[in-house]
Amino acid sequence: MTNMVLVGAQWGDEGKGRITDLLSSKVDMVVRFQGGDNAGHTVILNGQEFKLHLVPSGILYPNVECIIGNGVVINPESLISEIKNLEDKGIATKNLKISSSCHLIMPYHIALDGASENRLGSSKIGTTKKGIGPVYADKASREGIRVCDLLDRDIFWKKLNDVLEIKNAILSNVYNAKTFDAKEIFEKYNDYAQVIKKYVIESTFIINKALDENKNILFEGAQGTLLDIDHGTYPFVTSSSTIAGGVFSGAGIGPGRIDEVVGITKSYCTRVGFGVFPTEEKGEIGDIIRIKGNEYGTTTGRARRCGWFDSVIIRYSAMVNNLNSLALTKLDVLNGIEKLKICIGYKIDENVYENITPNCYLLEKSQPQYIEIDGWETDITNITEFDELPKNARKYVNAIEELTKIPISIISVGPDRNQIIIKDNDFKKKYF
Ligand code: GDP
Ligand code: IMO
Ligand code: MG
Repeated sequence: MTNMVLVGAQWGDEGKGRITDLLSSKVDMVVRFQGGDNAGHTVILNGQEFKLHLVPSGILYPNVECIIGNGVVINPESLISEIKNLEDKGIATKNLKISSSCHLIMPYHIALDGASENRLGSSKIGTTKKGIGPVYADKASREGIRVCDLLDRDIFWKKLNDVLEIKNAILSNVYNAKTFDAKEIFEKYNDYAQVIKKYVIESTFIINKALDENKNILFEGAQGTLLDIDHGTYPFVTSSSTIAGGVFSGAGIGPGRIDEVVGITKSYCTRVGFGVFPTEEKGEIGDIIRIKGNEYGTTTGRARRCGWFDSVIIRYSAMVNNLNSLALTKLDVLNGIEKLKICIGYKIDENVYENITPNCYLLEKSQPQYIEIDGWETDITNITEFDELPKNARKYVNAIEELTKIPISIISVGPDRNQIIIKDNDFKKKYF
């Protein structure tokens, strides 16, 4: 194994959790580097489901160190409940570590996230309401409270009082919303501190030391490229750097440390929340994909919007992440759909674009241009070799490779750990 970054190549929920889990058996350490508990990464092991939000998806392997890097924002209540759920299911969390530099999601961040969405009305983003935008805004405006602050009662009390004065003024005067009591938050968060302090480390030193010792690290992205704060369909994005480059600031490593970047993409496309989605199918086919793919949010339970595979956005993802290969998930969901479509370009006014900046106002005017490929009937959920897939399934996969110009290393044909095809022989030799 080398040092690899796994990123979502679409709008999230591509199957990052299950691919991280697959590759975790080959590494010493799995690191999350951005996002918070807006993420919902599902791993299914022998039929048992694990929903991970903050804990890296390598946690099911007892010898893998799992680090929540400095770029992640932490809601301590949610982290503690996730740890408890894992322990209750018999998964040890002794190898979990949290960076002392992570910013904390506070109750006022969650309140402000909700209040801002309400104010936006029909223009709302459709956030997960986990406080993600407000906590990253505070980080940038230097009003944030970090894990290291929480561990020092005096510093925490001072910072909390300073910032709460402003937050309460905004909540009551701008949003006419409920305010917060500093003492109540202080006591609650001090209790959280007692639980999480044993996990806290200086992650940047630990990660770089592991790299110096030639250990293998997998960096697990959250959300997806089109949700990136700079490179996504702004403003309908999340508030962190979801692309591979986010790993350098979010884990504190230099660019030369990464050997390989794998983009995870569904065999079709989904999006949860609002914002442009050119290949969305609002009618029957969208419903069929949603039902067959069980496309309901892992974090919020919301129905995901569904549509066809879009090679325009994958080419874009390949560019901004410098993808070495793609992991194609959920190919089994397309079983039994008679005609499949792949978007090859967007028609805007009279021009067709194969490559385009994801400016959401421009893309809203786009008419996707499709090629059609015949579907297949055979159940593929037990297939483990590419050559054994039905001819039309192979045609579909090959078309994706040709259109995106990125080789497909992994294909998943079901949610369980072993429902996987390693398509690329070099990848197989290197890692399996
Ligand atoms: P993530 O956020 O990228 O980790 O993805 P999610 O876990 O939110 O959503 C992916 C969903 O698809 C989960 O419920 C997985 O169990 C499921 N899944 C992953 N790969 C496959 C696959 O190949 N086939 C099927 N049918 N389900 C899959
Ligand atoms: P994983 O890691 C899919 C979406 C929200 C909303 C937008 C902003 O499981 O792929 P936020 O709460 O981050 O401010 O919401 O981003 N979003 C996701 N969509 N998967 C995710 O994570 C997401 N995390 C945020 O639905 O549109
Ligand atoms: Mg998810």
